[in-house]
Amino acid sequence: MEKVMLITGASSGIGLATAHAASDAGYRLVLAARSRDKVESLASTLGGSERAIAVECDVTDPDSQKHMVAQALSAFGRIDVVFANAGVGGRPGGFTSADTDYWRHLILTNVYGAAVTVRLTADALKDACGHVVLTGSVAGRRTIAGSMYSVTKWAVTAIGYGLREELRGSGVRVTLIEPGLVDTPFFDDPKPEGLRAEDVANSVMYAISQPPSVDVHEVMVLPTPPVEE
Ligand SMILES: NC(=O)c1ccc[n+]([C@@H]2O[C@H](COP(=O)([O-])OP(=O)(O)OC[C@H]3O[C@@H](n4cnc5c(N)ncnc54)[C@H](OP(=O)(O)O)[C@@H]3O)[C@@H](O)[C@H]2O)c1
Repeated sequence: MEKVMLITGASSGIGLATAHAASDAGYRLVLAARSRDKVESLASTLGGSERAIAVECDVTDPDSQKHMVAQALSAFGRIDVVFANAGVGGRPGGFTSADTDYWRHLILTNVYGAAVTVRLTADALKDACGHVVLTGSVAGRRTIAGSMYSVTKWAVTAIGYGLREELRGSGVRVTLIEPGLVDTPFFDDPKPEGLRAEDVANSVMYAISQPPSVDVHEVMVLPTPPVEE
């Protein structure tokens, strides 16, 4: 039976690169994002409805995520890997002067959205003895001055740790992928000093391709510092 992987934030960057890598590895895919045109075009590139389906989904909306999971189960009947990857970046201002309305959006997307993805796929993952992969960040493992984005990624780290304990003995594995700087549309300007999205996709594939007896808890992956002259 070919495994099924559901990816949130599949329209761009790390999610897009992981969709290609997982497709190459033989996974059937559920590709979710708000940009319907992008995920539809990706699904078509990856082989069409037998191999990949596109679902328009806003992770901040639980009904939208329920629809995503229903579509996945209707198309493929199972979910083996969930990559809760959708996320947005922070804005300047710190805790002393930032736009607090934006905080709501940031927390709803990065924390609530990821937690709802986990909650709504948990039964299917238990049935499949599956794997949850969460895109955390190095910003969720280190102190970053004035960063509500960092707060959201510390929360994702906590979801990963707490979920792993909750699922102990179920056969479901939980991996946190914790990238440093990655050159994706997450940033307005190119970041040539960063990792490529494909580098992070390789970390995801490493984690999910281990034998059932191997539980990869965290992969922190950063760009190698430049060689000093
Ligand atoms: N780039 C970095 O340096 C870096 C480092 C560490 C961690 N990360 C994390 O990596 C993840 C992916 O980021 P990326 O670098 O690949 O950035 P990206 O290219 O901007 O991709 C973000 C993805 O999230 C989706 N998304 C955003 N809000 C969403 C929502 N409400 N509902 C559904 N999908 C939503 C976007 O799709 P739509 O806009 O089509 O919805 C897009 O597919 C994020 O969680 C980010 O925090 C990034």
